Amino acid sequence: MKRTHHCAELRPEHVGQTVTLTGWVNAYRDHGTGLVFVDLRDREGLTQLVFDKEDADEALLAQADKLRNEYVVAATGAVRTREGGPNPKLATGEVEVVVSSVEVLSETDTPPFLPSDDKGDLPREEIRLKHRYIDLRRPRMQEIMRTRHRVTKVVRDYFDEHGFWEIETPYLCKSTPEGARDFIVPSRNQPGSWYALPQSPQLFKQLLMVAGAERYLQIARCFRDEDPRADRQAEFTQIDCEMSFVEQADVIEIMEGMVRRVWKDVLGVEVPAVDRMTYHEAMNRYGIDRPDRRFGLELVDVSEIAGKSDFKVFHGALDKRKGCVKVIRVPGGAEKLTRKLTDGYTEFVKQFGAGGVPTLKVNAEGRPETGIGRFVESVWDELKAATGAEPGDTLLFGADSWGTCLKAMGELRLKVARDLDLIDESKWDFLWVVDFPMFEYDEETGRFYSLHHPFTAPNPDQVEAFLAADPGDVDTIEGVVSAGYDIIVNGSEIGGGSIRIHRQDVQSKVFSLLGMSEEEAKDKFSFLLDALRFGAPPHGGIAFGLDRLVMHLTGTDNIRDVIAFPKTQTGADLMSDAPGAVSDAQLEELHVRNVVDEE
Ligand code: AMO
Repeated sequence: MKRTHHCAELRPEHVGQTVTLTGWVNAYRDHGTGLVFVDLRDREGLTQLVFDKEDADEALLAQADKLRNEYVVAATGAVRTREGGPNPKLATGEVEVVVSSVEVLSETDTPPFLPSDDKGDLPREEIRLKHRYIDLRRPRMQEIMRTRHRVTKVVRDYFDEHGFWEIETPYLCKSTPEGARDFIVPSRNQPGSWYALPQSPQLFKQLLMVAGAERYLQIARCFRDEDPRADRQAEFTQIDCEMSFVEQADVIEIMEGMVRRVWKDVLGVEVPAVDRMTYHEAMNRYGIDRPDRRFGLELVDVSEIAGKSDFKVFHGALDKRKGCVKVIRVPGGAEKLTRKLTDGYTEFVKQFGAGGVPTLKVNAEGRPETGIGRFVESVWDELKAATGAEPGDTLLFGADSWGTCLKAMGELRLKVARDLDLIDESKWDFLWVVDFPMFEYDEETGRFYSLHHPFTAPNPDQVEAFLAADPGDVDTIEGVVSAGYDIIVNGSEIGGGSIRIHRQDVQSKVFSLLGMSEEEAKDKFSFLLDALRFGAPPHGGIAFGLDRLVMHLTGTDNIRDVIAFPKTQTGADLMSDAPGAVSDAQLEELHVRNVVDEE
């Protein structure tokens, strides 16, 4: 029985036709009225089938009797106008199919849960992941899979139109440094040697530019052995791009065009020209390099005023290297922020290394009271003018070294917004963050770290100054601005890239600043350093997190929802039970010894 239509297709114009549908039994209703109703589901939707006990023969009724939820069936019958009146919730709600024959194609054990319970209580996620093939039958999951397909299709078309070639790069490679731990694979042919799965195709895409490919695209799987989070999986997918003979503005223009095309095609949303903000502005105003601007609560720097106050905590902070004092003004906070909430904030910021959240409320006369109110009496007029504080507001302070203060206040800003329900979920807030520093200096280890990755170039006007800079001059090195850019949607980083270093002297200086000896750099990246000596064009690119794009486009905050077969927090696939043991023979062949049992 070949299907003639899918389950969301039939309309009044089909009335009178004989059709065959295939799918899963979504619901079965015998009201004892002489009619049995079956909702048949395929990936497109539902159609109501009717068995009329008065007209049907014994054999057909016996078949109907056997049907259970999630049986796979093929049913043939005549389309008629729905006798019970239209169901406006269904695309096919004006018609029903009076079944004349039905064939069970596959039975089912009792399912652990029903896809038709989509809007009801879903079982625990572990159960859904264990039986992922049933979970994926839910209309919501089908919609997500469809959207994900749509996104990759639109992306491929867009880049094809702009002259990009889709080129695959290896999965068995040498380690690529994106800052995470590698997944490694033992080599059978070379005992004691290991491949790493790519954290991204970064080096290969740069080599493709040296190879003259000019415009490259890959929907690439990346592997990073880090603990999964709500928006992070160990195995995830990038829309990875690279272009030759471009500057930052060119990459941004093409990539913004892609984002605009995807939002238009998938959601019908017109994305206006995307704002740009420097890293420093983002950090100073929002305490984070991926600001969510759908609400206010911006950080205000009051370091100078705080220095004149009588509050020891402020002075302690300002004495630190790059110490600062920042304020979040919460309008109406005196009433809205309960004691319980503000007490919780002290604990909350401790996880980011801050000591606490000095707080004050502004009374009806516009004067500071409660909390640290009396310590800022002497500077209140200035503080009030700087923050715009009004009667009934609460001021939340952060005082620490620049990095710690901003981290804590940036996170606190988001928490307050969530606690007070200030985020306008109907808004789309796109933003490019640009002008990142090349390096971050870590006081504890006394070392520099790349903010993006070590292949990111300094801004063109900084190259010579960078080459001339003394590695011991922390302030100068920290002041070097890179040609890196991130694209942010609603406070989430959906993509990041940079113009790359295409000069070997610049690349070597970066490696040496990162504490890599010449030997080490050669050992790890000789192929890149070599290639840079053989005619490397200026180039740059970006990678978008495909999973994150789809999360935004489908409105979920759980990355597992957008990956057909995701891993749990502990990196397990509950369905196939991976990771699992392998035989001793396999290990032997790979020259690997399992020491876990020996420990
Ligand atoms: P980056 O490491 O910033 O850059 O990654 C680019 C984008 O990939 C997404 N992403 C992730 N998504 C899900 N799970 C993860 N664990 C995860 N890690 C990253 C994010 C991020 O913005 N090679 C560079 C790109 C370049 O310079 O061209 C890179 O990988 O959305």
